[in-house]
Order: sequence, then C-alpha cells, then structure tokens
Amino acid sequence: MFGNLLSYEKDGQVIHFQFAKGSGQIEVITNTIIRVFSGDETIHSQAIEGDKRQEAVCSVSHVNGSLVVRTKSLAVYISDDFKVDFYDNQNHSLCLDYRGVRHQRTVVNTEELALMEKEGHAVNSNVGIHKFEVVKAMDGDESFYGLGDKTGFLNKRHYAYEMWNTDNPSPHVDWVKALYKSIPFFITLKKNYVYGIFFDNTYKSYFDMGKESEDYFYFASDNGNLNYYFIAGDTMTDVVSGYTYLTGHMPVPQEWTLGYHQSRWSYKSETEVRALAQKIRDEHIPCDAIHMDIDYMDSFKVFTWDKSHFNKPQNMLSDLGKEGFKVVTIIDPGVKVEKGYSVYDEGLENGYFITTPEGNIYTNTVWPGEVVYPDFGKSEVLTWWSDKQKFLTDLGVRGVWDDMNEPSSFNGDLPQNLIFTDGNQKTDHARMHNVYGQLMSKATYEGLKKYDGRRPFVITRACFAGAQKYTTAWTGDNHSIWAHLQMAIPQLCNLSLSGMSFVGTDVGGFVCDTTPELLIRWVQFGCFSPLFRNHSAMDCIRQEPWSFGEEVLGIYRKYVQLRYKLIPYYYDLFFSGEKTGLPVMRPLVLQYSQDENVKNLNDEFLVGESLLIAPIVEQGAVRKLVYLPKGTWYDYWTRDSIEGGCAFVREAPIDTCPVYVKAGSILPTWPMQDYVGQKKIDTLELDVYLGNGIYHHFQDDGESFSYRDGVYNEYLCTLANRKLTVECIHNGYFLYYEWLCIHFEGKTVTIPFNQEKIEITLS
Ligand code: GLC
Repeated sequence: MFGNLLSYEKDGQVIHFQFAKGSGQIEVITNTIIRVFSGDETIHSQAIEGDKRQEAVCSVSHVNGSLVVRTKSLAVYISDDFKVDFYDNQNHSLCLDYRGVRHQRTVVNTEELALMEKEGHAVNSNVGIHKFEVVKAMDGDESFYGLGDKTGFLNKRHYAYEMWNTDNPSPHVDWVKALYKSIPFFITLKKNYVYGIFFDNTYKSYFDMGKESEDYFYFASDNGNLNYYFIAGDTMTDVVSGYTYLTGHMPVPQEWTLGYHQSRWSYKSETEVRALAQKIRDEHIPCDAIHMDIDYMDSFKVFTWDKSHFNKPQNMLSDLGKEGFKVVTIIDPGVKVEKGYSVYDEGLENGYFITTPEGNIYTNTVWPGEVVYPDFGKSEVLTWWSDKQKFLTDLGVRGVWDDMNEPSSFNGDLPQNLIFTDGNQKTDHARMHNVYGQLMSKATYEGLKKYDGRRPFVITRACFAGAQKYTTAWTGDNHSIWAHLQMAIPQLCNLSLSGMSFVGTDVGGFVCDTTPELLIRWVQFGCFSPLFRNHSAMDCIRQEPWSFGEEVLGIYRKYVQLRYKLIPYYYDLFFSGEKTGLPVMRPLVLQYSQDENVKNLNDEFLVGESLLIAPIVEQGAVRKLVYLPKGTWYDYWTRDSIEGGCAFVREAPIDTCPVYVKAGSILPTWPMQDYVGQKKIDTLELDVYLGNGIYHHFQDDGESFSYRDGVYNEYLCTLANRKLTVECIHNGYFLYYEWLCIHFEGKTVTIPFNQEKIEITLS
C-alpha cells in the first residue's frame, strides 16, 4: 500500500517517512509510548486531550535496509510498505508486522448468506472490506485483554469484535461483536513481554484477535487514519498506566456515589419514590441514591418533570436529601419534536440538531415519539447542553444518567451519512457515531461541575476511549440470566483495563425475571463492583431487596452492609487511581501476569491488590473451586490463613460469597451507616491481616475538588513483623481522626490518635 521507503526527516521526536506511494510518521510520545500515524492531521483525537509528549532522546539510523528509531527503552524498525516492528532495547522482538499470507475466510456465496439471514441469523457479511488493516504476527503465546465492554470471556484470544456503539436489546452473548461502548485498546500478554495498542480511530473498526488465523491478529477500520499508539511496559500495570496517561485519569468521585443505588424503570410518582425511600430505611438497607428513569419527565421530554405525578420535585428532593438520599435522573439525547417545548425551539432556532446531507433536520423515533438529535460535536451545542443541567441541579438533582446515546433509535442505526460536526469541521455520522455518547457525557460533566460545583456524577451507556475523565458507566441492558452474571466479571474487568474504573452492571439483571437465588448471587458480586446499582425493566418481576421475603432480604442486607463497611477502601483506590490511572476492579492477570493459572480466570477478580472475590455465578452451586495466587491469603469470613498457588474447594452456601484478603493488607473500614455521611467518623478503623505491607489512606470532604489544592490528609500505614506504623504524611484537611482502632487476629485495640506517628506491636 505504501511502497518502498525512500527517505526520512527527523523533526525532534517526530520522524516523517516518505514512501513511494504515501507518507507516514512515528512520534516518540515517551520512552515507552510510540505513535504510528498516516493520514489526515486535521482529524483530532477524541480520546487524548492536551500534549502528551514528554521529552525523550531518540535517534534514527539505518539497519539492514530499515530505519530504526531508538528511544531509551525501544527500537522501532520501519521498512518498505510502512511495516513497523517493535523491539526492546535488548533487541528482543515485542510486536512485529505480519508479512506472510493472509488466510481470509472465504465468504460464503451471497445467496446462502441471504438464506441464513432470512431465518434471522447474524452473518459475517463484511469480512475483508476494510479501508486499511494493521496485521501483527503472533508467536502463539499471546493472550489479549481490554477492548472495553465486549461480551464473552476475559481473554479475547480467538475472538473478533467490532467497535460500533450498539444498542442491542437481544441477550448479549459471546458472539455479539459490539455493545454500547467502543474502546479500541487492548493489551497483549506474552510469556515474557506485555504491551498495549490503542487504535485512535473513531470510525467503525474491527479487531480480530487470532480468530482468522493462529499466525496473526489484526485491527482495521472502514475509514479515518492509520493512527495507533504502541505502549510498552515491564508489567501489565505499566501498560494500563501508559494507556490512562494518554487518555486521562478518572477524577476521584464523590464518596456517596460508592454507596448503594436503587433503580427501576420506573418509579413513577412522588408517592412511589417517597414510599420506596421509607421502605429502604425501614428495612435498614444502606442506600445513597435513587435513580429516576424516563417516567419522571413530562411526555419523555428531557429537562422537564411530569407535574401531575411530581408536583414539587424540589421539595421531594430536599426531603429525600434530609434522609441521606441523592436523586439521579436519566436524560436521553433525543429531543421531542414539539413546537413550544423550549429545548426543541432553542435547538431549532440555533441550528443545534443534526441534519441530513440535504440540510433538513433529521428526525427518528425514541421514547417521546418523533425526536431530533443534538449535534454534540459542535462547541455551542456542548455548552448549551451543559447549561441545560442547571435545570436539574437547581432542583437538587445530584447525578445524571445519560442513556440511549449510541445514539439509539427505535428504527435501528441512524444513517452513516447524516451531517455531524467535529469542532469547526462538518463531518458525518460515520465519524462521530462512536463518540456521540462521550460528548454527551462531557457536556453533562461540564454542566454539573459548573452548576453543582461538586465532583460530577455522570453515568453513561455509550462512550469511547478516554470517557473516564467525565463519566462512570454501566453495561446497559443485561438480562436476568446466569450467563450474564457470569459474563459480568470479565466484562467489568476488561472495561477496567480499558481505563473505565467506575463501572457496574444492573444488579439482578435488567430484562426478564430474576429469581431469588440469582438476585442473591448478583448482589454478592455487585457489592464488590465499583458502581453498585440494582436496576430492572418495567415489565419484570420486582427485584428491590425485599421482593423475595425475609431470607433474601437478610442476605441482601448483609452484602450491602459489607460494601458500606469497605467504602473507605474503595475511596482510597479511587484516590490513588487518579494518580496512577489504575482501576479499582482488576482481573487477577493484571497483578499476577506470570501466573498461567489466571490468564483465563473468568470467575474471580481483585478489588485493588488486597481483596480477592470469588463469587458464585452458577445456579444451584453451593461450593466453588477457588484459585489463589502464590502467597499467603486469609479467608475473610473465617480469618483462616491459606497458602496460595493452588486451587481448592470453598463451601459457599447461599449466604456466602467467598472473599480472601492478601497477607499484609490493611483495610480501612467504616461503622455501619444508613448512608454515607450519616455519622461523624472520628476513628480511623483498620482491619489488619498480618504479613508485610504498605497502605495509603486518604481523608477529605468527599465531595469538592479542593483535594486538588492539597485539602486532604494522607496516612501512610506500614505493617512489618507485627509492627504497625501509622503516620499522617500529608496534612491538609482540617478534620482529623481522634482515635485509631485496629482489628487483627480477632482482637481489637483502640488508642487515642493525634496525627502523631504511632507505632504499635500487634500481639
Ligand atoms: C434503556 C436503558 C435502561 C432504561 C430504559 C428506559 O433500555 O438501558 O436502563 O431503564 O432505557 O429508560
């Protein structure tokens, strides 16, 4: 495609290459991150903000007919046809372009395909029609992770996926290639090496991770630029940090958002919402958030309330606030076509809606009937939508749930040739589709930041790479089936590896009827997932915690309470995550990449480094085969110590989710509360698991951005040879702990604490 390599020109850290039939460039972003590019420079990144280039010494030289660009850590060989090969500085090959013959699957004859389609089968009709492809050789020992929220298992080897944000209401099973989000980033783990590739292209793209052939994997796109980042690292965590360095770190969320969220499509009236809130408190299910689905609106018109069912929303929100509830409202992008409805009128008057190529406003059908779609890529539209959030914040709404933003319609995909805007450029739906939800979330984030002032809480269904800067996400319309509880673990782990740290599934399952057992097993998993929300569809059996009687309610309560106990641990992970870019929820392979036993482990995960969760995800199961990596672990429930590096059977009756704590862990905990902030917490309570370890604990107001100005306290806790040292190493927040309470080996010690360094022997 590019032809022979003719010449090059080095411009600082960018090296331009001239080929017989085109040009390309290599940009040294850091010593370990290299950008490979060819195409139209006016297409800007939707994922990377600001200049990420760090000063790095690099050189170019000729070696055996190729040019080699060297940094401190890497050697990148460029050859004819813009073949790019990555080596480390010891000349070990990391990732090489494939030069052999492609083994494309023969496309079955079109008549046969048509027949299959007639019966309703999905067919692979677009094999091999990509504008360009990057094909990389495989050695055979590759495992692949990441790719955002795809279906199926943790390791993506032998599977193929597409990046095209899709609202697919049918069950999300293994063969479904695209869901609501597109995050074109993956990690390749080999026996001795690990690296990541971020393909920064928003058009529909394709990832074949060794499905077509054992000899290679590829990524490809219908359009846009050849534009990818190679991210090297010594460990898998380095690679994830490299990716989030490029695409942004997630800001620390407000503390209450880590609590339990109760939702349903829909709580339809003020009476119903108030009764729900009362019931939650009466049943002592800790809870911080109630989510309002589409029925709170007047005829599904965004930024309105249905006054016949919610007469004075402000009063309701204020009363709920006194009981510790924060209300999160859903907002869809589709604006109802209705003269006299201010959002529609304003948008129409200012040309804020997307149009057809002929210049007519494009309409389609969603909940309100006929709708128009804001053109979020236009900066005025982004500001306009941000300003619309004021309507909600003025009433006391504390978070916004952005839905249907693939963008979705009741008639399938919107046509690809619709006119969208990207900054000042007119472009089309094909280019902006995958970032539509991202831009909507950004507008929401900016609006909440401006009008509420606290750290915005946004949840989105659709997004692109880098969305973590603005929003949390849930995995959309799962089903109340065991297969979806099973899939939830790898799905959230891969999303987490793809930069999205604050993610969750609809606990209990959204579509179809859950069962008492499924709800229990789901809450046992869900209470450990970063975003913890029970949500279900309107025609489904009720699945609030009390829906199945006392036994289910009791177990449900136990796990929500466990989550509330551990909120400070989650908060610390988010706090340190803003610095490191590492996620809260982690597949074991992230921390134990050299352990063959965890490369395909789909039914366990870590929370940070300390907690290992092994949920039951099979109907009827009352015991589980648990694998613990090498090292000493403690059973959370019995405190028995176990030597890892082996699998064993753990009894797990219906009220038990197996949980393990790594030796040397220090878990900060809270006393029981109905909601975050109900009690004044004057004690730093530490649950200590003997061994050697270091832990950082953070304390601040839990809601404002002032931590960024140093208004927080940081405690360094060190555990070695039964000696625990607690020291305040950053002293910026005026509220302090007055007591230090340590739990270990079934004992509890409480001592006064005045921020001085404390050393205590645990005996
Ligand atoms: C979509 C959302 C779902 C919501 C429903 C009604 O299906 O994914 O969560 O309840 O729309 O708004």
